[in-house]
Amino acid sequence: MKKLIIANWKMLPTSLAEAQEIVSAANEYFESAGEQIQTGVVFCPPFVFIEEIGKMLSRSHLAHQAELGAQDIFWDDTGADTGEISGPQLAKLGVRYVIIGHSERRWKLGETDEIVNKKLKAALRNEMIPIVCIGERTRSTSSGQARDGNWKEKIAEQVHATFMGLSSDDIGKCIIAYEPVWAISTNPDSRPDTPDSAVESIKLIQRALSEKYKVKGEKFLYGGSITEHNAKDFLECPEFSGILVGGASVRKDEFVKILTDANLIAR
Ligand code: PGA
Repeated sequence: MKKLIIANWKMLPTSLAEAQEIVSAANEYFESAGEQIQTGVVFCPPFVFIEEIGKMLSRSHLAHQAELGAQDIFWDDTGADTGEISGPQLAKLGVRYVIIGHSERRWKLGETDEIVNKKLKAALRNEMIPIVCIGERTRSTSSGQARDGNWKEKIAEQVHATFMGLSSDDIGKCIIAYEPVWAISTNPDSRPDTPDSAVESIKLIQRALSEKYKVKGEKFLYGGSITEHNAKDFLECPEFSGILVGGASVRKDEFVKILTDANLIAR
């Protein structure tokens, strides 16, 4: 089964030249693998590089394998909103995917469920595929993390609030990234989830969705401290259609290794 790799570059790299090097490395890999490719990639650069990376994708081998994604979208399509980027502006640059509700936006920048919900609707209105991030902040563990016995309820609440007012059809157009906040590499004491426990969480998400909607065949990704060492473990799980990679997606050699594994597993 074809696997999808989302490269969330966050606020990296610093220069366009470095951004182009990452894409070139992926392009070289795809070129060398020829017709054997079974992997799709979505590059989500910072806004400032989207246009150039889009041009680069369209001129390379990646034209058939890679798509352009954005890390955020504003909820209105027009208006005087200093600093924001609208859906129509992104669509004109060829953006096909947009990350919605990333935990860094929810918890560092104060994006509420209501804002996330409005951005999700903006992405759908502009015919983009939303990659909707869902994940609890803390979880009961034996390794000294703060305990939060309600994490299951919190996931269900976040699912209901995030998708509020959407039709089952619209939810079916979304890709859901399960990203436990405690597993994101930029958090102190972060560590990846295990595939078994992440599968348990996506079952909770499915259950929460099925309480209100008739959605079938949802696509799930796992994200949080994916590296060249553990990508394979999640990609081998049939429950996951792919992975959302942050830090490792800007380390070009490591990213190519992840693409290679994804492709071997898909074949
Ligand atoms: P990470 O980031 O892979 O660096 O943990 C994942 C994400 O933030 O989406």
